[in-house]
Parts: sequence; structure tokens; C-alpha cells
Amino acid sequence: MSEQHKKVEKNPNLPSNIVMSGIRPTGMVHLGNYFGAIRNYVRMQDEFECYFMIADLHSLTTHPDTKTLKDNVRRVLAENIACGLDPEKATFYCQSHIYETGELYLYLNMLAYKGELEKTVTFKDKARQHPENVNAGLLTYPVLQTADIIMHRASHVPVGKDQEQHLEMARNFVVRFNHRYGEIFPEPHAFNYNEQLIKVPGLDGSGKMSKSENNMSTLYFADDDDTIRKKVMKAKTDSGPTEKNAVMPDYIENIFMLMKLVCSEDVIKKYETDFNECTIRYGDLKKQLAEDMISFMAPIRQKTDDILANDAYLVEVMKKGAQKANESAAKTMKLVREAMGLNYF
Ligand code: TRP
Repeated sequence: MSEQHKKVEKNPNLPSNIVMSGIRPTGMVHLGNYFGAIRNYVRMQDEFECYFMIADLHSLTTHPDTKTLKDNVRRVLAENIACGLDPEKATFYCQSHIYETGELYLYLNMLAYKGELEKTVTFKDKARQHPENVNAGLLTYPVLQTADIIMHRASHVPVGKDQEQHLEMARNFVVRFNHRYGEIFPEPHAFNYNEQLIKVPGLDGSGKMSKSENNMSTLYFADDDDTIRKKVMKAKTDSGPTEKNAVMPDYIENIFMLMKLVCSEDVIKKYETDFNECTIRYGDLKKQLAEDMISFMAPIRQKTDDILANDAYLVEVMKKGAQKANESAAKTMKLVREAMGLNYF
């Protein structure tokens, strides 16, 4: 066995607190994204070495038409920065700017089995929704995601429950790689602050706010004040409780959950008391919620617009992010090629 091909001994210097996450550029940023994810990124960027990536390559698995891609990527960049993500603190970059990702993805594909990929829930869902486009990229989506994460040798991945299976697969690929070629990579795990992950309910009284359905129940940062008002006023209520201290129906509880995100404690207390006393007026409550929502969301919309109007700034952000991410990628890929014996001279 050649020197390069010998397994690297278990490496005590594996990085253990690098944060990496990906953001899909399909759809606009909404309130659920903010309270469920972005707000945590903003806190993490002060406490960890962070890599936040716009997953433009992943979007090709389901959106092969790239006509709107550039605009979508710019908007997602601008919206995240307006929400507090700081390209000076975190490395904020586009997936397609790191060419090595394709290389690492290729190596990892040899360690990923067809059977396990076919069993992935997200693959089965997407294959069912689009039987005319069940492409190999869709099948190996979790492999590409693994390449994103381990490209920076990250161990902490702030994602929601829907990504758990992908991370479990990432750990399997990492274990196989490390076993075969040497301990290069830490195992990636979902990472969030101890508090429960906040679920932002939709305005229609069911489920959570999501961007897949562009409907009245989701509040987007791109919505203007009147749209926010209209959506909030349409939220499902009823004629009010008929007995004191009643149990709140789900859809009313959801409205209170939304209030807790943006309204003052006094306001929430007042309406809770009104509910318990059967004097609540949902029309007034929703008017208040709409105005407080606007106070919270409008400045972010304004900031997004300012950033979008300054293309030179966005280009600079992308270039700087690409440069920082590429430095990290180059280091990792040197280790990988050495470990795999793909260094011929
Ligand atoms: N699959 C993730 C999603 O659907 C996006 C993503 C791409 C990602 N690469 C990643 C998330 C790396 C975490 C780490 O939201």
C-alpha cells in the first residue's frame, strides 16, 4: 500500500463546531423561514464559523428551467441579508460557485447505494409529484447535500425536521468515507438552539406557513402593507367563545401564536383576558396584529428593496462569499484527494 493510500489514523483534529446550512432559492422568504431558521442563523454567525449557501444546483433537480434563477438567487440573498444575515460575519455564498462540490459529489456517489437513495422520503414524494422528471440528480439529492456540508467539514447543520433523513444519510456516507479512506470528516448532525423550534402557523388555521403554496395563508416579506392587512384580516376566526375561560380552538390559538411573534406583551395580555371574559372582538385583534406585523415586516421589505437596487453590492457579496467558501473547499479537497490516493504527483 502506498504512503498516500494508507488510512489516515483517527484524527483528533477534526473540526467540531463548524455550522453549515443550505437555503433553497425557490420561492420568496416568508415569516416561517424567519422565525424557524434565519433568526437562528443570525445568532449563530456570532458564535460559530458559519457557511450559509444558496442551493442553486439543488434547485435544478426540480426546476431545470433557469430563466428566473438569477433573479431568485439575488432576491433570496437580499432577503436573508435584510433579515440580519451578515456576509462579513458568515460565509454566504452560492453553491454553483464552488466547483469542487461537483468533484466531492462524484466521489460520494460511489459510496451511496441505489437502494437507500430510492427509499428516501423526499425522493419518493418528488418522483410521485413529477413522474415525467425522475432524474438521477433527484435520486442523488442527499449526496449533493452531503458534499455541501462536508466540503467545510461542518458538523452542525441548522435544519428543520424535514431534513433529518438527509442528515442521517449524510452521516452514513461520512462513516463509509472515513472507514474506507481515513478520518477526514466529522459526522454532521442537526443543530438548533435548545429552545423548541418555533413553528409559525399559517393564517388559514391549519398547518404551518410554507412557501410551496403561494396562497393567502403565508406572509411573505415581499408583501406590501395592504397585502399583509388583507391576509391577516382573512384569517379564520369565529363569533367568539360562549363561556368564560373556554379552551381555545386551534385556529384562534394559531392567531395568538402569531401575535406572540410581533405584538407587545400588553397587547397579548389584553386579548387573552378578553378571550377568557368572552368580550373578545376578533376584528380589533386582527387589525392590531396586522399593524404590528407591518411594523415588523415593512422595514425588512424596505431593506431588501434597497439591496436589490444595488447590484454592485450583491455581486460583491457573492464574490466575497465564493472566495471564502473556495478557500475552505480547496483545503478539504486536498485532504480528500490525498486520502483517496488521487494525488499522482
Ligand atoms: N435540502 C435543503 C432543503 O431542502 C437545502 C440544502 C441544500 C441544505 N444543501 C444543504 C441544507 C446543506 C443543509 C445543508 O431545505
